[in-house]
Amino acid sequence: MKTPKYKTSTPIDLPDRQWPSKTLTASPAWCSVDLRDGNQALPNPMDPEQKLEYFQLLCKIGFQEIEVGFPSASQDDFDFFRQLIEHDHIPTDTFIMGLTQCRPHLIKRTFEAFKGVKQGIVHAYIASSDLHMKQVFKMDRDDTLKSAVESTRQIRELADAQPGSDIRYEFSPEEFTDTDPEFCLELCKAVFDAWGKASPEKPMILNLPATVERRPPNHYADMVEWFCANFPHRDCVKISLHSHNDQGMAVAATELALLAGADRVEGTLFGHGERTGNVDLVTVVNNLFSRGIETGLDFSDLGRVAETVERLTGMPIYYRQPYAGEYAFTAFSGSHQDAINKGMHQLDKTGELFGMRWKVPYLHVDPVDLGRSFERLIRINSQSGKGGIAWVLEQEYGIEIPKAMQPQLREEVQAYSDDAAREITAKEVYAIFDKQFVKPDAPFELVAYWPRPDDQDPTFIHGEVKLKIQGLEKTAIADGNGPISAFVNAVREAVGIDFCVNDYHEQAIGKGADAQALAYVPLKLKDNGVVFGVGSDSNIDQAAAKAIIAGLNRIAKKQES
Ligand code: KIV
Ligand code: ZN
Repeated sequence: MKTPKYKTSTPIDLPDRQWPSKTLTASPAWCSVDLRDGNQALPNPMDPEQKLEYFQLLCKIGFQEIEVGFPSASQDDFDFFRQLIEHDHIPTDTFIMGLTQCRPHLIKRTFEAFKGVKQGIVHAYIASSDLHMKQVFKMDRDDTLKSAVESTRQIRELADAQPGSDIRYEFSPEEFTDTDPEFCLELCKAVFDAWGKASPEKPMILNLPATVERRPPNHYADMVEWFCANFPHRDCVKISLHSHNDQGMAVAATELALLAGADRVEGTLFGHGERTGNVDLVTVVNNLFSRGIETGLDFSDLGRVAETVERLTGMPIYYRQPYAGEYAFTAFSGSHQDAINKGMHQLDKTGELFGMRWKVPYLHVDPVDLGRSFERLIRINSQSGKGGIAWVLEQEYGIEIPKAMQPQLREEVQAYSDDAAREITAKEVYAIFDKQFVKPDAPFELVAYWPRPDDQDPTFIHGEVKLKIQGLEKTAIADGNGPISAFVNAVREAVGIDFCVNDYHEQAIGKGADAQALAYVPLKLKDNGVVFGVGSDSNIDQAAAKAIIAGLNRIAKKQES
Protein backbone atom coordinates (compact mmCIF):
# COMPACT_ATOMS: atom_id res chain seq x y z
CA MET A 1 0.00 0.00 0.00
CA LYS A 2 1.20 3.50 -0.83
CA THR A 3 2.27 5.48 2.25
CA PRO A 4 -0.27 8.26 2.81
CA LYS A 5 0.98 11.82 2.81
CA TYR A 6 -0.89 12.64 6.02
CA LYS A 7 -2.50 10.58 8.72
CA THR A 8 -4.68 11.13 11.75
CA SER A 9 -2.79 11.41 15.01
CA THR A 10 -3.58 8.63 17.45
CA PRO A 11 -5.09 9.81 20.74
CA ILE A 12 -3.59 8.42 23.91
CA ASP A 13 -5.53 5.68 25.63
CA LEU A 14 -7.50 7.46 28.37
CA PRO A 15 -10.87 5.76 28.74
CA ASP A 16 -11.62 7.32 32.15
CA ARG A 17 -10.79 10.88 31.12
CA GLN A 18 -12.31 13.43 33.51
CA TRP A 19 -11.90 16.77 31.75
CA PRO A 20 -15.01 16.60 29.51
CA SER A 21 -17.34 16.85 32.50
CA LYS A 22 -15.38 19.56 34.32
CA THR A 23 -16.16 23.28 34.42
CA LEU A 24 -13.57 25.95 34.80
CA THR A 25 -14.28 28.05 37.89
CA ALA A 26 -10.95 29.67 38.75
CA SER A 27 -8.33 31.49 36.77
CA PRO A 28 -4.97 29.96 35.88
CA ALA A 29 -1.75 31.96 36.28
CA TRP A 30 -0.85 33.91 33.14
CA CYS A 31 2.51 34.37 31.50
CA SER A 32 3.01 36.73 28.58
CA VAL A 33 5.54 35.57 26.00
CA ASP A 34 4.94 38.61 23.78
CA LEU A 35 8.45 39.91 24.09
CA ARG A 36 10.04 36.54 23.25
CA ASP A 37 7.85 34.23 21.11
CA GLY A 38 5.82 37.22 19.89
CA ASN A 39 8.74 39.51 19.16
CA GLN A 40 10.88 36.85 17.48
CA ALA A 41 8.10 36.35 14.91
CA LEU A 42 7.66 39.99 13.92
CA PRO A 43 8.82 41.05 10.46
CA ASN A 44 10.41 44.05 12.22
CA PRO A 45 11.27 43.10 15.80
CA MET A 46 10.82 45.86 18.34
CA ASP A 47 13.70 48.11 19.35
CA PRO A 48 14.59 48.49 23.07
CA GLU A 49 12.42 51.56 23.51
CA GLN A 50 9.43 49.82 21.97
CA LYS A 51 10.06 46.70 24.05
CA LEU A 52 10.10 48.79 27.20
CA GLU A 53 6.78 50.41 26.30
CA TYR A 54 5.33 46.95 25.58
CA PHE A 55 6.72 45.61 28.88
CA GLN A 56 5.11 48.48 30.76
CA LEU A 57 1.82 47.82 29.01
CA LEU A 58 1.96 44.15 30.10
CA CYS A 59 2.68 45.19 33.70
CA LYS A 60 -0.23 47.63 33.62
CA ILE A 61 -2.57 44.89 32.40
CA GLY A 62 -1.44 42.90 35.42
CA PHE A 63 0.89 40.19 34.11
CA GLN A 64 3.17 38.99 36.88
CA GLU A 65 5.22 36.63 34.72
CA ILE A 66 6.68 38.05 31.53
CA GLU A 67 9.12 36.31 29.23
CA VAL A 68 11.19 39.21 28.02
CA GLY A 69 13.59 37.52 25.63
CA PHE A 70 16.20 34.95 24.73
CA PRO A 71 19.22 36.76 26.18
CA SER A 72 21.86 34.28 25.06
CA ALA A 73 20.63 34.36 21.47
CA SER A 74 20.67 38.07 20.81
CA GLN A 75 22.61 41.05 22.10
CA ASP A 76 19.44 43.16 21.92
CA ASP A 77 17.62 40.76 24.22
CA PHE A 78 20.60 40.63 26.58
CA ASP A 79 20.76 44.42 26.74
CA PHE A 80 17.03 44.58 27.35
CA PHE A 81 17.37 42.32 30.39
CA ARG A 82 20.13 44.55 31.70
CA GLN A 83 18.09 47.69 31.06
CA LEU A 84 15.06 46.30 32.95
CA ILE A 85 17.16 45.20 35.91
CA GLU A 86 19.61 48.11 36.13
CA HIS A 87 16.98 50.80 35.64
CA ASP A 88 14.55 49.22 38.06
CA HIS A 89 11.71 48.84 35.57
CA ILE A 90 10.39 45.60 37.06
CA PRO A 91 7.46 45.91 39.49
CA THR A 92 8.06 44.14 42.80
CA ASP A 93 5.36 41.52 42.19
CA THR A 94 6.66 40.59 38.71
CA PHE A 95 8.95 37.80 37.53
CA ILE A 96 10.86 38.29 34.30
CA MET A 97 11.60 35.14 32.37
CA GLY A 98 14.40 34.35 29.90
CA LEU A 99 14.59 31.44 27.47
CA THR A 100 17.65 29.29 26.93
CA GLN A 101 18.53 26.11 25.12
CA CYS A 102 20.05 23.27 27.14
CA ARG A 103 23.62 24.24 26.26
CA PRO A 104 26.26 25.22 28.85
CA HIS A 105 27.55 28.43 27.28
CA LEU A 106 24.03 29.69 26.59
CA ILE A 107 22.96 28.98 30.17
CA LYS A 108 25.99 30.83 31.48
CA ARG A 109 25.19 33.85 29.34
CA THR A 110 21.55 33.72 30.46
CA PHE A 111 22.63 34.04 34.07
CA GLU A 112 24.80 37.00 33.16
CA ALA A 113 21.70 38.66 31.83
CA PHE A 114 19.81 37.86 35.06
CA LYS A 115 22.51 39.31 37.36
CA GLY A 116 20.93 41.35 40.15
CA VAL A 117 17.35 40.41 39.26
CA LYS A 118 14.98 40.28 42.21
CA GLN A 119 12.64 37.67 40.74
CA GLY A 120 13.41 35.70 37.62
CA ILE A 121 12.46 32.51 35.83
CA VAL A 122 15.08 30.69 33.80
CA HIS A 123 13.27 28.82 31.07
CA ALA A 124 15.15 25.93 29.50
CA TYR A 125 13.77 23.95 26.60
CA ILE A 126 14.79 20.88 24.68
CA ALA A 127 13.16 19.16 21.76
CA SER A 128 11.63 15.91 22.99
CA SER A 129 9.85 14.67 19.89
CA ASP A 130 11.45 11.92 17.83
CA LEU A 131 11.07 14.12 14.77
CA HIS A 132 13.26 16.88 16.22
CA MET A 133 15.65 14.61 18.07
CA LYS A 134 16.34 12.44 15.04
CA GLN A 135 16.12 14.88 12.17
CA VAL A 136 17.23 18.19 13.60
CA PHE A 137 19.68 17.31 16.36
CA LYS A 138 20.77 13.75 15.51
CA MET A 139 20.16 12.85 19.14
CA ASP A 140 18.43 9.90 20.74
CA ARG A 141 16.29 9.85 23.89
CA ASP A 142 19.26 9.16 26.17
CA ASP A 143 21.20 12.10 24.73
CA THR A 144 18.21 14.35 25.28
CA LEU A 145 17.68 13.15 28.81
CA LYS A 146 21.34 13.61 29.66
CA SER A 147 21.52 17.06 28.16
CA ALA A 148 18.35 18.23 29.96
CA VAL A 149 19.51 16.88 33.31
CA GLU A 150 23.03 18.33 33.01
CA SER A 151 21.65 21.69 31.98
CA THR A 152 19.23 21.70 34.87
CA ARG A 153 22.06 20.95 37.31
CA GLN A 154 24.04 23.83 35.86
CA ILE A 155 21.02 26.11 36.20
CA ARG A 156 20.57 25.03 39.82
CA GLU A 157 24.22 25.76 40.55
CA LEU A 158 24.13 29.19 38.95
CA ALA A 159 20.85 30.02 40.66
CA ASP A 160 22.30 29.03 44.03
CA ALA A 161 25.25 31.28 43.31
CA GLN A 162 22.84 34.26 43.21
CA PRO A 163 21.33 34.03 46.72
CA GLY A 164 19.98 37.59 46.53
CA SER A 165 17.69 36.65 43.65
CA ASP A 166 14.57 34.52 43.74
CA ILE A 167 15.27 32.41 40.65
CA ARG A 168 12.68 29.88 39.61
CA TYR A 169 12.93 27.24 36.93
CA GLU A 170 10.74 26.43 33.96
CA PHE A 171 11.36 23.45 31.71
CA SER A 172 9.71 22.85 28.32
CA PRO A 173 9.80 19.58 26.36
CA GLU A 174 9.41 21.20 22.96
CA GLU A 175 6.74 19.65 20.70
CA PHE A 176 5.12 18.00 23.72
CA THR A 177 2.10 17.12 21.56
CA ASP A 178 4.35 15.16 19.18
CA THR A 179 6.32 13.49 21.97
CA ASP A 180 5.84 9.99 23.33
CA PRO A 181 4.01 10.72 26.65
CA GLU A 182 5.95 8.07 28.58
CA PHE A 183 9.26 9.53 27.45
CA CYS A 184 8.08 13.04 28.23
CA LEU A 185 7.13 11.97 31.74
CA GLU A 186 10.51 10.31 32.26
CA LEU A 187 12.30 13.41 30.98
CA CYS A 188 10.31 15.81 33.16
CA LYS A 189 10.77 13.63 36.26
CA ALA A 190 14.52 13.54 35.69
CA VAL A 191 14.65 17.31 35.23
CA PHE A 192 12.50 17.83 38.33
CA ASP A 193 14.92 15.71 40.37
CA ALA A 194 17.92 17.53 38.95
CA TRP A 195 16.43 20.88 39.94
CA GLY A 196 15.87 19.36 43.34
CA LYS A 197 14.39 22.33 45.13
CA ALA A 198 10.80 22.62 43.93
CA SER A 199 8.24 23.06 46.70
CA PRO A 200 4.56 24.00 46.89
CA GLU A 201 5.69 27.55 47.81
CA LYS A 202 8.25 27.75 45.01
CA PRO A 203 7.01 25.28 42.43
CA MET A 204 8.91 24.39 39.31
CA ILE A 205 7.08 25.12 36.07
CA LEU A 206 6.63 22.28 33.61
CA ASN A 207 5.51 23.87 30.38
CA LEU A 208 3.88 21.48 27.89
CA PRO A 209 3.92 23.13 24.48
CA ALA A 210 1.66 22.37 21.56
CA THR A 211 4.49 23.87 19.53
CA VAL A 212 2.80 23.08 16.24
CA GLU A 213 -0.87 22.32 16.42
CA ARG A 214 -0.59 18.80 15.07
CA ARG A 215 -3.45 17.40 17.11
CA PRO A 216 -7.04 18.40 17.85
CA PRO A 217 -7.67 20.13 21.21
CA ASN A 218 -9.17 17.02 22.83
CA HIS A 219 -5.92 15.09 22.26
CA TYR A 220 -3.97 17.89 23.94
CA ALA A 221 -6.37 17.79 26.90
CA ASP A 222 -5.99 14.01 27.16
CA MET A 223 -2.21 14.30 27.16
CA VAL A 224 -2.25 17.01 29.82
CA GLU A 225 -4.68 15.08 32.03
CA TRP A 226 -2.56 11.95 31.73
CA PHE A 227 0.61 13.89 32.51
CA CYS A 228 -0.94 15.57 35.57
CA ALA A 229 -2.22 12.25 36.87
CA ASN A 230 1.13 10.52 36.46
CA PHE A 231 3.59 13.17 37.55
CA PRO A 232 4.58 12.19 41.11
CA HIS A 233 5.19 15.61 42.67
CA ARG A 234 2.09 17.37 41.45
CA ASP A 235 1.95 19.86 44.34
CA CYS A 236 5.50 21.02 43.63
CA VAL A 237 4.97 21.83 39.95
CA LYS A 238 2.84 24.20 38.01
CA ILE A 239 1.65 22.61 34.79
CA SER A 240 1.79 25.24 32.10
CA LEU A 241 0.25 25.37 28.62
CA HIS A 242 1.85 26.89 25.56
CA SER A 243 -0.22 26.40 22.45
CA HIS A 244 0.29 27.69 18.96
CA ASN A 245 -2.51 28.25 16.50
CA ASP A 246 -1.53 26.35 13.35
CA GLN A 247 -4.98 24.80 12.96
CA GLY A 248 -6.80 27.79 14.45
CA MET A 249 -7.69 25.96 17.66
CA ALA A 250 -5.17 27.28 20.16
CA VAL A 251 -7.85 28.89 22.31
CA ALA A 252 -9.92 25.70 22.37
CA ALA A 253 -6.82 23.62 23.09
CA THR A 254 -5.92 25.89 25.99
CA GLU A 255 -9.40 25.86 27.47
CA LEU A 256 -9.71 22.06 27.28
CA ALA A 257 -6.23 21.56 28.70
CA LEU A 258 -7.16 23.83 31.61
CA LEU A 259 -10.10 21.53 32.29
CA ALA A 260 -7.59 18.71 32.18
CA GLY A 261 -5.75 20.17 35.15
CA ALA A 262 -3.20 22.74 33.94
CA ASP A 263 -2.48 25.71 36.22
CA ARG A 264 -0.83 28.26 33.99
CA VAL A 265 -1.10 29.61 30.46
CA GLU A 266 1.56 31.17 28.25
CA GLY A 267 0.51 33.23 25.27
CA THR A 268 0.55 36.64 23.66
CA LEU A 269 -1.76 39.58 23.19
CA PHE A 270 -3.79 39.11 20.00
CA GLY A 271 -1.88 35.91 19.27
CA HIS A 272 1.40 37.30 17.95
CA GLY A 273 3.98 34.55 17.57
CA GLU A 274 5.61 32.19 15.14
CA ARG A 275 3.59 31.35 11.97
CA THR A 276 -0.09 31.58 12.93
CA GLY A 277 0.92 32.75 16.35
CA ASN A 278 0.68 31.76 19.98
CA VAL A 279 -2.63 31.42 21.74
CA ASP A 280 -4.34 34.81 21.97
CA LEU A 281 -4.46 35.70 25.65
CA VAL A 282 -6.96 38.51 25.09
CA THR A 283 -9.44 35.90 23.91
CA VAL A 284 -8.72 33.26 26.56
CA VAL A 285 -8.72 35.79 29.40
CA ASN A 286 -11.90 37.49 28.27
CA ASN A 287 -13.64 34.17 27.66
CA LEU A 288 -13.07 33.43 31.33
CA PHE A 289 -14.05 36.97 32.31
CA SER A 290 -17.31 36.61 30.35
CA ARG A 291 -18.11 33.54 32.46
CA GLY A 292 -17.68 35.47 35.69
CA ILE A 293 -14.15 34.27 36.54
CA GLU A 294 -11.82 36.83 38.14
CA THR A 295 -8.70 36.65 35.97
CA GLY A 296 -6.46 39.20 37.67
CA LEU A 297 -5.86 40.91 34.33
CA ASP A 298 -7.37 44.24 33.37
CA PHE A 299 -8.63 44.69 29.81
CA SER A 300 -11.04 47.47 30.68
CA ASP A 301 -9.29 49.73 28.16
CA LEU A 302 -8.84 47.20 25.40
CA GLY A 303 -8.89 49.89 22.72
CA ARG A 304 -5.74 51.43 24.14
CA VAL A 305 -4.09 48.02 24.48
CA ALA A 306 -4.94 47.21 20.86
CA GLU A 307 -3.74 50.58 19.60
CA THR A 308 -0.43 50.22 21.49
CA VAL A 309 0.20 46.67 20.28
CA GLU A 310 -0.65 47.58 16.67
CA ARG A 311 1.71 50.54 16.80
CA LEU A 312 4.59 48.65 18.44
CA THR A 313 4.35 45.48 16.37
CA GLY A 314 3.42 47.20 13.12
CA MET A 315 0.78 44.53 12.64
CA PRO A 316 -2.92 45.37 12.41
CA ILE A 317 -5.57 43.56 14.39
CA TYR A 318 -8.13 41.85 12.20
CA TYR A 319 -11.62 43.40 12.08
CA ARG A 320 -13.27 40.29 13.43
CA GLN A 321 -10.72 39.41 16.12
CA PRO A 322 -12.69 38.38 19.25
CA TYR A 323 -13.14 41.22 21.75
CA ALA A 324 -10.69 43.64 20.10
CA GLY A 325 -11.56 43.65 16.40
CA GLU A 326 -13.39 46.68 15.09
CA TYR A 327 -16.46 44.55 14.33
CA ALA A 328 -16.25 42.29 17.39
CA PHE A 329 -19.51 43.68 18.75
CA THR A 330 -21.00 45.20 15.64
CA ALA A 331 -24.30 44.17 14.11
CA PHE A 332 -25.00 45.09 10.51
CA SER A 333 -28.06 42.96 9.88
CA GLY A 334 -31.51 44.23 10.67
CA SER A 335 -32.70 41.28 12.75
CA HIS A 336 -29.57 41.36 14.91
CA GLN A 337 -29.81 45.12 15.39
CA ASP A 338 -33.44 44.84 16.37
CA ALA A 339 -32.70 42.08 18.86
CA ILE A 340 -29.82 44.03 20.44
CA ASN A 341 -31.99 47.11 20.70
CA LYS A 342 -34.75 45.13 22.42
CA GLY A 343 -32.33 43.34 24.73
CA MET A 344 -30.60 46.55 25.76
CA HIS A 345 -33.92 48.09 26.67
CA GLN A 346 -34.79 45.14 28.90
CA LEU A 347 -31.54 44.73 30.78
CA ASP A 348 -33.36 45.50 34.02
CA LYS A 349 -35.19 42.16 33.69
CA THR A 350 -32.24 39.83 33.07
CA GLY A 351 -31.40 39.44 36.77
CA GLU A 352 -34.83 38.06 37.51
CA LEU A 353 -35.14 36.05 34.30
CA PHE A 354 -31.65 34.60 33.94
CA GLY A 355 -29.90 35.27 37.26
CA MET A 356 -27.29 37.51 35.66
CA ARG A 357 -27.09 41.24 35.06
CA TRP A 358 -25.96 40.96 31.44
CA LYS A 359 -27.80 38.85 28.89
CA VAL A 360 -28.33 40.54 25.55
CA PRO A 361 -29.00 38.93 22.18
CA TYR A 362 -25.88 38.72 20.02
CA LEU A 363 -23.62 40.28 22.70
CA HIS A 364 -22.17 37.68 25.03
CA VAL A 365 -20.28 40.31 27.00
CA ASP A 366 -20.89 43.98 27.74
CA PRO A 367 -18.60 45.96 25.41
CA VAL A 368 -18.42 48.71 28.01
CA ASP A 369 -16.47 46.33 30.29
CA LEU A 370 -13.74 46.39 27.66
CA GLY A 371 -13.88 50.14 27.32
CA ARG A 372 -15.75 49.95 24.05
CA SER A 373 -18.45 52.53 23.60
CA PHE A 374 -21.78 51.71 22.04
CA GLU A 375 -21.46 54.02 19.09
CA ARG A 376 -19.83 51.33 16.95
CA LEU A 377 -22.15 48.52 17.99
CA ILE A 378 -24.69 48.97 15.31
CA ARG A 379 -23.49 49.90 11.88
CA ILE A 380 -25.81 51.03 9.16
CA ASN A 381 -25.89 49.78 5.60
CA SER A 382 -28.68 48.75 3.24
CA GLN A 383 -29.33 45.56 5.26
CA SER A 384 -29.86 47.40 8.51
CA GLY A 385 -33.14 47.12 10.32
CA LYS A 386 -35.43 49.69 11.81
CA GLY A 387 -34.35 48.84 15.36
CA GLY A 388 -30.70 49.41 14.53
CA ILE A 389 -31.31 52.74 12.85
CA ALA A 390 -33.43 53.89 15.79
CA TRP A 391 -30.66 52.72 18.13
CA VAL A 392 -28.03 54.79 16.35
CA LEU A 393 -30.15 57.96 16.57
CA GLU A 394 -30.93 57.29 20.22
CA GLN A 395 -27.31 56.57 21.21
CA GLU A 396 -25.71 59.35 19.21
CA TYR A 397 -28.32 62.10 19.29
CA GLY A 398 -30.76 61.13 22.05
CA ILE A 399 -33.58 60.98 19.51
CA GLU A 400 -36.21 58.37 20.37
CA ILE A 401 -38.02 57.46 17.18
CA PRO A 402 -41.48 56.05 18.00
CA LYS A 403 -41.95 52.42 17.02
CA ALA A 404 -44.64 53.20 14.45
CA MET A 405 -42.35 55.65 12.67
CA GLN A 406 -39.32 53.36 12.50
CA PRO A 407 -40.32 51.54 9.26
CA GLN A 408 -40.66 54.91 7.46
CA LEU A 409 -37.23 56.03 8.63
CA ARG A 410 -35.80 52.69 7.59
CA GLU A 411 -37.23 53.10 4.09
CA GLU A 412 -35.48 56.45 3.70
CA VAL A 413 -32.18 55.17 5.14
CA GLN A 414 -32.30 52.10 2.92
CA ALA A 415 -32.91 54.18 -0.23
CA TYR A 416 -29.95 56.38 0.69
CA SER A 417 -27.56 53.53 1.52
CA ASP A 418 -28.61 51.58 -1.57
CA ASP A 419 -27.62 54.61 -3.56
CA ALA A 420 -24.39 55.11 -1.65
CA ALA A 421 -23.61 51.36 -1.87
CA ARG A 422 -21.60 51.48 1.36
CA GLU A 423 -21.88 51.62 5.11
CA ILE A 424 -23.20 54.99 6.26
CA THR A 425 -22.30 56.96 9.36
CA ALA A 426 -24.46 58.00 12.29
CA LYS A 427 -24.09 61.58 11.05
CA GLU A 428 -25.55 60.59 7.70
CA VAL A 429 -28.45 58.80 9.43
CA TYR A 430 -29.16 61.97 11.35
CA ALA A 431 -28.99 64.02 8.15
CA ILE A 432 -31.54 61.68 6.50
CA PHE A 433 -33.85 62.00 9.52
CA ASP A 434 -33.52 65.78 9.46
CA LYS A 435 -33.97 66.17 5.72
CA GLN A 436 -36.80 63.69 5.23
CA PHE A 437 -38.82 64.13 8.43
CA VAL A 438 -37.98 67.49 10.00
CA LYS A 439 -37.30 69.69 6.99
CA PRO A 440 -38.63 67.94 3.90
CA ASP A 441 -38.79 70.08 0.76
CA ALA A 442 -41.65 72.61 0.43
CA PRO A 443 -44.49 73.28 -0.99
CA PHE A 444 -45.77 74.16 2.50
CA GLU A 445 -44.15 76.49 4.92
CA LEU A 446 -45.39 77.51 8.35
CA VAL A 447 -44.98 81.24 8.82
CA ALA A 448 -46.77 81.57 12.17
CA TYR A 449 -49.40 80.03 14.37
CA TRP A 450 -51.01 81.99 17.22
CA PRO A 451 -53.42 79.86 19.23
CA ARG A 452 -55.61 81.71 21.82
CA PRO A 453 -57.92 80.08 24.39
CA ASP A 454 -61.62 80.97 24.13
CA ASP A 455 -62.66 83.58 26.75
CA GLN A 456 -65.50 81.40 28.11
CA ASP A 457 -64.05 77.89 27.57
CA PRO A 458 -60.24 77.93 27.70
CA THR A 459 -60.05 74.36 26.32
CA PHE A 460 -61.43 75.67 23.03
CA ILE A 461 -58.93 77.39 20.77
CA HIS A 462 -59.36 80.21 18.28
CA GLY A 463 -56.40 81.26 16.31
CA GLU A 464 -54.73 82.09 13.06
CA VAL A 465 -52.34 80.11 10.93
CA LYS A 466 -50.11 81.89 8.45
CA LEU A 467 -48.79 79.55 5.77
CA LYS A 468 -46.86 79.82 2.56
CA ILE A 469 -48.05 77.49 -0.15
CA GLN A 470 -45.71 77.38 -3.15
CA GLY A 471 -44.34 80.67 -1.86
CA LEU A 472 -47.75 82.39 -1.63
CA GLU A 473 -48.85 83.52 1.79
CA LYS A 474 -52.21 82.38 3.07
CA THR A 475 -54.02 82.93 6.40
CA ALA A 476 -56.44 80.37 7.79
CA ILE A 477 -58.73 80.50 10.82
CA ALA A 478 -57.92 77.86 13.46
CA ASP A 479 -60.82 76.76 15.64
CA GLY A 480 -60.87 73.52 17.61
CA ASN A 481 -60.75 71.61 20.89
CA GLY A 482 -57.13 72.29 21.70
CA PRO A 483 -54.23 73.86 19.83
CA ILE A 484 -53.39 70.83 17.66
CA SER A 485 -56.97 70.10 16.66
CA ALA A 486 -57.47 73.81 15.78
CA PHE A 487 -54.28 73.81 13.72
CA VAL A 488 -55.29 70.63 11.86
CA ASN A 489 -58.72 72.10 11.03
CA ALA A 490 -57.16 75.26 9.61
CA VAL A 491 -54.42 73.60 7.63
CA ARG A 492 -56.61 70.80 6.18
CA GLU A 493 -58.76 73.47 4.56
CA ALA A 494 -55.82 75.55 3.39
CA VAL A 495 -53.72 72.83 1.75
CA GLY A 496 -56.55 70.66 0.44
CA ILE A 497 -55.28 67.36 1.90
CA ASP A 498 -57.72 65.28 3.93
CA PHE A 499 -55.94 64.05 7.04
CA CYS A 500 -56.42 63.78 10.74
CA VAL A 501 -54.17 63.52 13.79
CA ASN A 502 -55.35 61.19 16.56
CA ASP A 503 -52.32 61.17 18.79
CA TYR A 504 -48.66 62.09 18.72
CA HIS A 505 -45.47 61.44 20.56
CA GLU A 506 -43.32 64.11 22.13
CA GLN A 507 -39.87 64.15 23.62
CA ALA A 508 -37.69 66.72 25.34
CA ILE A 509 -34.14 67.11 24.07
CA GLY A 510 -31.69 68.89 26.36
CA LYS A 511 -32.40 70.44 29.73
CA GLY A 512 -33.35 73.78 31.29
CA ALA A 513 -33.63 76.93 29.22
CA ASP A 514 -32.08 75.20 26.18
CA ALA A 515 -34.56 72.31 26.16
CA GLN A 516 -36.27 71.66 22.85
CA ALA A 517 -39.41 69.66 22.28
CA LEU A 518 -39.45 67.13 19.47
CA ALA A 519 -42.94 66.20 18.24
CA TYR A 520 -43.43 63.08 16.11
CA VAL A 521 -46.86 63.40 14.50
CA PRO A 522 -48.55 60.66 12.42
CA LEU A 523 -50.89 62.17 9.80
CA LYS A 524 -53.62 59.69 9.02
CA LEU A 525 -54.92 59.89 5.46
CA LYS A 526 -58.30 59.00 4.06
CA ASP A 527 -56.99 55.72 2.62
CA ASN A 528 -55.71 54.84 6.13
CA GLY A 529 -52.11 55.44 5.16
CA VAL A 530 -50.01 57.14 7.81
CA VAL A 531 -47.21 59.62 7.17
CA PHE A 532 -44.97 60.91 9.97
CA GLY A 533 -43.63 64.42 10.27
CA VAL A 534 -41.30 65.70 12.99
CA GLY A 535 -41.09 69.23 14.40
CA SER A 536 -38.73 70.84 16.84
CA ASP A 537 -39.35 73.95 18.91
CA SER A 538 -38.98 75.21 22.47
CA ASN A 539 -42.78 75.17 22.66
CA ILE A 540 -44.50 71.81 22.32
CA ASP A 541 -47.56 73.13 20.42
CA GLN A 542 -45.34 74.91 17.93
CA ALA A 543 -43.24 71.74 17.59
CA ALA A 544 -46.39 69.74 16.79
CA ALA A 545 -47.56 72.37 14.27
CA LYS A 546 -44.17 72.23 12.53
CA ALA A 547 -44.36 68.40 12.54
CA ILE A 548 -47.75 68.52 10.80
CA ILE A 549 -46.39 70.82 8.08
CA ALA A 550 -43.37 68.51 7.68
CA GLY A 551 -45.73 65.53 7.34
CA LEU A 552 -47.79 67.38 4.73
CA ASN A 553 -44.67 68.14 2.73
CA ARG A 554 -43.79 64.44 2.82
CA ILE A 555 -47.28 63.59 1.56
CA ALA A 556 -47.02 66.18 -1.23
CA LYS A 557 -43.64 64.76 -2.24
CA LYS A 558 -45.04 61.23 -2.34
CA GLN A 559 -47.99 62.38 -4.42
CA GLU A 560 -45.58 64.05 -6.83
CA SER A 561 -43.47 60.94 -7.40
O1 KIV B 1 6.47 26.76 21.01
C1 KIV B 1 7.34 26.28 21.73
O2 KIV B 1 7.49 25.08 21.88
C2 KIV B 1 8.23 27.23 22.39
C3 KIV B 1 9.13 26.66 23.42
C4 KIV B 1 10.44 27.34 23.40
C5 KIV B 1 8.49 26.72 24.75
O3 KIV B 1 8.13 28.41 22.18
ZN1 ZN C 1 6.21 28.89 21.26
